[in-house]
Amino acid sequence: MCGIVGYIGDKSAANFLIDGLTKLEYRGYDSAGIAVFDGNEIFIEKSVGRLASLKEKLKGYTPKGSIGIGHTRWATHGRPSDINAHPHTDCHGDFVVVHNGIIENYMALKEDLIERGHKFLSETDTEVVPHLLEEFYKGDFASAVREVLKKIEGSYSLVFMSKNHHDELICAKQDNPLIVGIGEGENFIASDIPAIINKTRSTYILNDGEIAIVKKNSVEITDKNGNKIDKKIFNVSWNAEAAEKGGYEHFMLKEINEQPKAIRDTMRGFIKQIRPSKNNDERIAKDGSSIIFPELKWNPDFLKNIDKVYIVACGTAYHAGLVGKFYIEKLARMLVEVDLASEFRYRDPIIDEKTLTIFISQSGETSDTIAAMKESKRLGAKTLAITNVIGSSLAREADQVLYTIAGPEIAVASTKAYTTQLILMFMLALYMAQLRKTVSEDRTRELISLLKKIPAQISETLSDVDPIKTFARSYGFNEHVFYIGRSLDYDVALEGALKLKEISYIHAEAYAAGELKHGTLALIVEGVPVIALATQKSVYDKTISNIKEVKARDAVVIGIAAAGDTELEKYIDHVIYVPDTDELLIPLLTVVPLQLLAYYSAITRGCDVDKPRNLAKSVTVE
Ligand code: M6R
Repeated sequence: MCGIVGYIGDKSAANFLIDGLTKLEYRGYDSAGIAVFDGNEIFIEKSVGRLASLKEKLKGYTPKGSIGIGHTRWATHGRPSDINAHPHTDCHGDFVVVHNGIIENYMALKEDLIERGHKFLSETDTEVVPHLLEEFYKGDFASAVREVLKKIEGSYSLVFMSKNHHDELICAKQDNPLIVGIGEGENFIASDIPAIINKTRSTYILNDGEIAIVKKNSVEITDKNGNKIDKKIFNVSWNAEAAEKGGYEHFMLKEINEQPKAIRDTMRGFIKQIRPSKNNDERIAKDGSSIIFPELKWNPDFLKNIDKVYIVACGTAYHAGLVGKFYIEKLARMLVEVDLASEFRYRDPIIDEKTLTIFISQSGETSDTIAAMKESKRLGAKTLAITNVIGSSLAREADQVLYTIAGPEIAVASTKAYTTQLILMFMLALYMAQLRKTVSEDRTRELISLLKKIPAQISETLSDVDPIKTFARSYGFNEHVFYIGRSLDYDVALEGALKLKEISYIHAEAYAAGELKHGTLALIVEGVPVIALATQKSVYDKTISNIKEVKARDAVVIGIAAAGDTELEKYIDHVIYVPDTDELLIPLLTVVPLQLLAYYSAITRGCDVDKPRNLAKSVTVE
């Protein structure tokens, strides 16, 4: 996620750009930059770090000009640095571009452009865009932009500025948000409403495939072929604070709702479609898919021959590690241990050069996780970081890094980071399974096709929250809540209980359902809420027996089941259904109602959802 802005009018572009970027910093803050055109020259300044560093670099200087673009970055391709910060230009500085998204085919485009003599400065995917514009430009700015858009694959919101066209900005949207704010004698472009809300409330919210040609007195919207689109003005009614949260009451709810996109973005680039080949190779001709990890620079033989994997993390990331263990053991048939980072380094772990250690951390700054990685390296293991923050300490320390593309997570309670970590662990396990030939090609294809459906299935789950709200209202004042499940359901139960504890301050515990009668059952009395997950088909009957045990003690049992399950509702008080999928993938769906349950329980109790007491987003002390 990044924030982009644009201005065209009679006033100072720079003033709007800096102000707008300040309002968009929640979308990304590892570097920032602006480009302002005074009709002759384009002035560009960029800086690694937060917007404050850019302001510091400008030292109070306000570049002259009434047309400009700006960007605040959350790195996806290329670490945070001055060079990688946007805006990016072509070889001659005639075209300037800011971008939010991922150009998937940038490597091939870049190689081609380099062969044609283009000089690249950054490591970003974005830089291909101004160079393509330079290639296609024959005097008609809009038609060159349309040619560029035909070439690039992936997701984007883009703003283009040209030295040859001092009276227009062009912007385009595909899978990332973009709006045009309509002023009087001036117009604005932004990723999101907060950037423009103190200037205008009249906007065009662009749809995928739309292009806007923005002049100071007009906005023309077309499709990718240049056909005009008659678009309705959207009048914003939110206040500035609500706008920053995309209209949601809290960042946590916004981030829960961002999960389909975060997962799509994280999967992007790792699933390879194998197309039918000319040589009629039967395997290829099946038009299947496989997982690829171009980022992993290890020799595949190393991954094939590892004899043990450790997954190390804290909190929610640790819970993602538990699911990751299940995936790797089940699919790649390798022994995996999962450890809390705060325990790992003090227990003399058994590690050698054939051990792979995986460290999961949203922030990449958790002190215990970083220290555990250092210990692992000292003992000679290979280290892999899975993190959401490019250039974070963990990413810098690791031998290899895989990134979740969840965008900044602001709420203390982790939600979209967890599901993207699960996705990455699943794809890594399947990748290792491919290398080790432990899963058949048919099963791989089946899993990948189900994987691709997950974002839409999460959206479906998010579309019906009323039963969850009702349950939270009825039971949100209980002091104790229990979560039970077997196999992967148990791992998800642990995450559900943590979510409830940290934001609603309700005492919540998760138990492996089969363990109840070894002690916990003593706590189950009349009226105690029990959330029972029953989606794992391989242990379904056994889970039902455990559910009957708690129901027999008069607990109030709320089940989480896969659509099509007609059994569970016979025994318990209420069932929340999620769409059906393979039992390996269903944790990505079952966790969503648990996140929502925690959220609405915290609301019911009047808690500060985004900033729970005693907690910080990133724990940078031991
Ligand atoms: O940034 P990290 O993923 O390393 O953070 C680890 C934990 O501190 C974090 O997951 C914490 O448990 C969350 N507040 C849970 O919602």
